[in-house]
Amino acid sequence: MEKIIILGALNEEIEYLLHDLKDKKEKQWNFFTIHEGILFGKNVVICQTQIGKVYAAMATQHLIDTYNPTKVIFTGVAGGVHTDVNVGDVIVSTDLVQHDFDTTAFGDPKGHIPRVNKRFFEADTELIKKALDTEFKDYNIYEGRIATGDQFITDISPLEEFNAYCVDMEGAAVAQVCDANKIPFLIIRIISDKADNSAKGDFEKNLPIFAANSKKVIEKLLK
Ligand code: ADE
Repeated sequence: MEKIIILGALNEEIEYLLHDLKDKKEKQWNFFTIHEGILFGKNVVICQTQIGKVYAAMATQHLIDTYNPTKVIFTGVAGGVHTDVNVGDVIVSTDLVQHDFDTTAFGDPKGHIPRVNKRFFEADTELIKKALDTEFKDYNIYEGRIATGDQFITDISPLEEFNAYCVDMEGAAVAQVCDANKIPFLIIRIISDKADNSAKGDFEKNLPIFAANSKKVIEKLLK
């Protein structure tokens, strides 16, 4: 039976999905609350990971081990990097990289993980295609690279080499865990700020307004 895991770091990034979740059952693992149920007719498991790569990786691996999912979807807001993107726009991940993984002392490019020799973690092409089929009236939907790190970015100039569409704090961790477990995944991000010197205020203002913009995309992926 198909089971889809849906993750978000913050309460605001999953509460609109929990609102629509039917036949809810709640479980606890560590400090993570796990919500099982039916969303848009599909068996899903929804979980808030909290902020950053470590908690996101922990939750993702635990849920993969527990539920043997067919897909993993992560959603939440992000800082816009590409000049085309505006607040409220939706970014569908093509691939993800950890911008703060740095073994440049050994001659590696930033984000490169030595020995396993991985740098970019590619999202599932079928999920990308389906997600991009979502129609928005007031916002644009783009596919692009997401650069992840345990930093809230307020200056994108050190990250230029990644050609990212947006920056987040969990995506590449979820991607790396899914890649290791051979589970198809997609990260869906909504732009809350432009990762510049107004980012803090913009994030705080826009998170509650725009976090649910990915609902239409998730509905498209599940139906
Ligand atoms: N999530 C939302 N805005 C962000 C930013 N500017 N940097 C990192 N993660 C974010």
